[in-house]
Amino acid sequence: MYRTHTCGELRAADTGKTVTLAGWVQKVRNLGAMTFIDLRDRYGITQLVVEEDSAADVRTAAEQLGREFVVQASGAVRERSSKNAKIPTGDIEIKIMELRILNHAGTPPFTIEEQSDGGDELRMRYRYLDLRRPPLQRNIALRHRLAQSVREFLDGEGFLEIETPFLIKSTPEGARDFVVPSRMNPGEFYALPQSPQQQKQLLMVAGYDRYFQIVRCFRDEDLRADRQPEFTQIDCEMAFVEREDVLRTFESMAKHIFRSVRGIDMGEVAFPRITWHEAMARYGCDKPDVRFGMEIDELTDLVRGADFPVFDAADYVGAIVAEGCAGYTRKQIDELTEFVRRPQIGASGLVWVRVGEDGAPKSSVDKFYSPEHLAAWCERCGATTGDLMLIIAGERRRSLNALCELRLEMGERLGLRDRNVFAPLWVVDFPLLEWDEQSGRFFAMHHPFTSPRAEDVELFFTDPARVCANAYDFVINGVELGGGSIRIHDSALQARMFEVLGFTPQEAQAQFGFMLDAFRYGAPPHGGIAYGLDRWCAVLGGVDSIRDFIAFPKNNSGRDTMLDAPSAVAQGQLDELGLSVIEN
Ligand code: AMO
Repeated sequence: MYRTHTCGELRAADTGKTVTLAGWVQKVRNLGAMTFIDLRDRYGITQLVVEEDSAADVRTAAEQLGREFVVQASGAVRERSSKNAKIPTGDIEIKIMELRILNHAGTPPFTIEEQSDGGDELRMRYRYLDLRRPPLQRNIALRHRLAQSVREFLDGEGFLEIETPFLIKSTPEGARDFVVPSRMNPGEFYALPQSPQQQKQLLMVAGYDRYFQIVRCFRDEDLRADRQPEFTQIDCEMAFVEREDVLRTFESMAKHIFRSVRGIDMGEVAFPRITWHEAMARYGCDKPDVRFGMEIDELTDLVRGADFPVFDAADYVGAIVAEGCAGYTRKQIDELTEFVRRPQIGASGLVWVRVGEDGAPKSSVDKFYSPEHLAAWCERCGATTGDLMLIIAGERRRSLNALCELRLEMGERLGLRDRNVFAPLWVVDFPLLEWDEQSGRFFAMHHPFTSPRAEDVELFFTDPARVCANAYDFVINGVELGGGSIRIHDSALQARMFEVLGFTPQEAQAQFGFMLDAFRYGAPPHGGIAYGLDRWCAVLGGVDSIRDFIAFPKNNSGRDTMLDAPSAVAQGQLDELGLSVIEN
């Protein structure tokens, strides 16, 4: 037996027991008469002691130890003279009677402790060492608990876990596919699934009316803190349901997750719902952080016609109010201006109005607007004494996006985004279609299988641009944690969707024939949702980056620096696949 206990287990009540532990040496402190060794495994750290009266072979072995050596130690548990309240095993230590070095270790490239001195790239290259650190071990354990909690809930609700293939067909809609060449079918390619959307719908046609899968998905997109090229979905689908049934089921699942993973009771009250149009108008985006107010108000009608060219030329002018920030310095305002001017935010500038102690507003555009004008803006936005109003003008979508980012930034600065507060909501009634100027065609905002709302089906045949989708997103603290929809189950409606998206009937048949065919053989009404497992972890763990919850993630350039992937393949492999690489 390698060990009788883990390194996180022993307490004062175990004093006197003879135990054997095994783990990694975190630290050795040689004080001459005594040597202290911190032994670590994923359960914790236990202090081992070698003393002058320890056996000679134990003292010799202790002298050889270095960081990350793998050892087995046996000895008696005793109470420490100086206790360490910071760790659960801090009341005890083990006086070693036997010490066996199970493996030597080279000096690790960074410290493997709660906080590491290693930079991001280095820790990614030696991910297996980084994964030994307690914060990452806690994250991986949280991920496991989340997956267990999901399985427990869905199993209880009668869902079947069904696997779907990874080698599927490339489709032109959605993000870019990762493609895989087929040796047996030269010149042809599989695609890795961006999600099992079509397969789960086919499972509904096949009669498996409650399906789920915790499944890897692949998307060749640009990466961000909350995006990885391969990520995991909790993918679900139900037949014979309406939107209400889906929302109720997955709201219960969200509450179950909070209870079992974080011990948080979200209560009986239903999560708030907001339409997409309302979310855009009030928060400037479709995934609002509603932990705090500071909502956007539109000022376009109030600011026109005063010969201020920026506002006159803008098709939208909107503002947020930062309470109690009237005293912001010039430098602070300049910082905010720089912030909104960043290329990824794209505002051209920032106009401010301060409401001073005397209640009189002062502004960076005083030259153009009278105190009465400014007072009317303040009234619209609810700005009162001591407040700072921040105004952005320009093209509507871009300005709303900038106001959204500015609101989040101000929320952060004012400490309004507490990571231990969770504010969930559903965003519903998304537009079904988005017009793309560049290609001069509609794209499905969610995906081409999403149904129009029942009341919009007629409009879909006359004015598709105005149609709302029967789609919903689940958002917590400004993070889109999930999205889904009620699907089209009627082949004529599905054919109309492809027509609106610019497919000829032949193209639709070639790309999605299997779906159109399936719908002819008794497709039940159905709908579903996919939650992002990695994003759920990050939200529950109170961090922004999903990377910390993935054992072996990719870096920002989509590389696995540990494996050095992607990489070139041998010429023979290319020949076999009938591929040649064009040097750039
Ligand atoms: P959607 O594309 O909205 O819907 O994805 C569902 C959820 O998956 C997560 N997610 C990601 N997480 C990490 N990295 C990524 N690159 C990434 N992309 C998406 C998000 C998102 O909300 N088939 C539909 C679902 C359905 O209609 O049932 C779909 O894939 O949390």
